[in-house]
Amino acid sequence: MKQYIYADNAATTQLDPQAFEAMIPWLRDEYGNASQPYSFSRKPKKAIAEARAVIAECINADPEEIYFTSGGTESDNWAIKGSAFSDSGHHATITSQIEHHAVLHSCEATERIGYPVAYLPADEEGRILPETLDRYISDRTRLVSVMTANNEIGTIQDIAGLADIAHAHGAMFHTDAVQAVGHIPIDVKALDVDMLSASAHKFNGPRGIGFLYIRKGIKVCPFMDGGGQENKNRAGTENTAAIVGMSIALMNNTQNMRNTSNSIRSLGQHRIYRDKEKAQPTQKLKAQRYVQFSSAGRTESSRQGFPVSQIQIRQCEHDIQFGGLFSQTPISCFSISE
Ligand SMILES: Cc1ncc(COP(=O)(O)O)c(C=O)c1O
Repeated sequence: MKQYIYADNAATTQLDPQAFEAMIPWLRDEYGNASQPYSFSRKPKKAIAEARAVIAECINADPEEIYFTSGGTESDNWAIKGSAFSDSGHHATITSQIEHHAVLHSCEATERIGYPVAYLPADEEGRILPETLDRYISDRTRLVSVMTANNEIGTIQDIAGLADIAHAHGAMFHTDAVQAVGHIPIDVKALDVDMLSASAHKFNGPRGIGFLYIRKGIKVCPFMDGGGQENKNRAGTENTAAIVGMSIALMNNTQNMRNTSNSIRSLGQHRIYRDKEKAQPTQKLKAQRYVQFSSAGRTESSRQGFPVSQIQIRQCEHDIQFGGLFSQTPISCFSISE
């Protein structure tokens, strides 16, 4: 029996069925605007408060430090622009050359209107070394932004080490953890980050919702002007269903993290064949590509009744499109054996 395998979980993931079920009442029945003062708003307001507490616990934050956004892109824009446009004396930003466009293009936008930005190079394994940051940083730096896990090659950075250097120079530290939250343990206190971006659809939550963690006491400009939602920091009527769905998905992923990551590591042992005629191995997947395959095992195999250990990667007629490095390369190679 042959089946299609979706292996671009770095681009987006399948919605957790429990998250989907939990969202329905907020779409269909309890559609009150959470920010209104009347009784129809009480339940959505309570649901949002509960979801905020669940999410905060998953990353060891306090609930007041979680701000809901429309996803990773908005969270990154807010962190970069909110920091540059704040009224502090220092406005220089340091980021890396291998960030997602949500960070790179936000930095370029601030640069165009006069805020200086430096772009740190990575080493051959995609690491941003603390000593590289040490060379670039100065006391004029207001923000350092380096991603936790890379969306193309999965390199996981030494975030605590980088944050340490930023703080030693009086700068804030932001990390785009969109590819990490829900896949590897994230503890904002242990990492000592001031801001952290996350996006629900990368951890089996709905698309179009995410959050920005902002440590208590950190000053960044509100990104969306308008109503007083999110403690006057992010205007816009709350998406109760999506917020609830995101909290369930993150809770489930966090609870299952150890099993999932063991399964994914085992996938790293398999070889990928590009040319089914010659069956030449073109890539041996390394454990570093862990995030690339995040959830692939769980969402695509166990949900369809195949434990990851039973997946055999071998020649077959099916094409499979990988994201990241492999996205230009249709690989005809995958099948599941019963
Ligand atoms: C590292 C990283 N940052 C930010 C984003 C943007 O997130 P969203 O799709 O929620 O806007 C992505 C999405 O691919 C990503 O991989």
